[in-house]
Amino acid sequence: SPPAIIAPSILSADFGALGQSCVDTINHGADWLHIDIMDGHFVPNITWGPAITAAVRKRVEKPMSSMGKGTFDCHMMIAEPHKWVLEFKKAGCDLYTFHYEAAINSQAADTPSTETNRPTSPKELIGYIHSLGMSAGIAIKPKTPVDVLWPILENPIPDERPDMVLIMTVEPGFGGQSFMPDMLPKVTALREKYPNLPIEVDGGLGEGTIDEAADAGANVIVAGSAVFGAKDPAAVIRTLRESVEL
Ligand code: DX5
Ligand code: ZN
Repeated sequence: SPPAIIAPSILSADFGALGQSCVDTINHGADWLHIDIMDGHFVPNITWGPAITAAVRKRVEKPMSSMGKGTFDCHMMIAEPHKWVLEFKKAGCDLYTFHYEAAINSQAADTPSTETNRPTSPKELIGYIHSLGMSAGIAIKPKTPVDVLWPILENPIPDERPDMVLIMTVEPGFGGQSFMPDMLPKVTALREKYPNLPIEVDGGLGEGTIDEAADAGANVIVAGSAVFGAKDPAAVIRTLRESVEL
């Protein structure tokens, strides 16, 4: 598997001290910051948008390269994800991960994209994200089968292939939910076909669940409540990393 990447979800941070909390988390050994964007439509919750993301970005040192240390891993739990790509680029997002389900519902698949009608099929959206200099991730919800990803990953045009896949291990919307182990066969199937693909898991990850996720082949680990609820967040980040690297 590719190297371990620990991405604490700031959904469980102290929102009243968000900037400092993010700086502390990086200092505790986190690789990335996982930024959960929710719009109240795609998921039944609302977090924040580009303005807050930009404000926090100013506090955290920018990565040397997209997906390096300090990467802003923006998990876009929003309808019409094509409409926010430029705004999040301006806000300092490095990795724009949209939901497959949102992308395919934005536009009939056979409607061509134009300047005023931005790309919305997953492959076009990935190309658009890349054209703005960001990395692109694609996420699937628990009820979406992994098979929808094969044609996207096998796209002959490299620029339209995702840099990362995110397998949700809870229903998106809230932190602190229970890990769904029955999502792991998706990770195993992806890892078998793609030994070098960054595979992210998100939801219910912590000291009790990391081993099975790592065994399945996940290497990008999101953890919200497990990190921010801990007395010693650095120790939790270390444990998560060791489990992936073992
Ligand atoms: C859920 C979010 C997660 C969430 C994870 O919709 O995508 O990133 O913050 O929180 P925990 O780790 O507490 O399950
Ligand atoms: Zn998330």
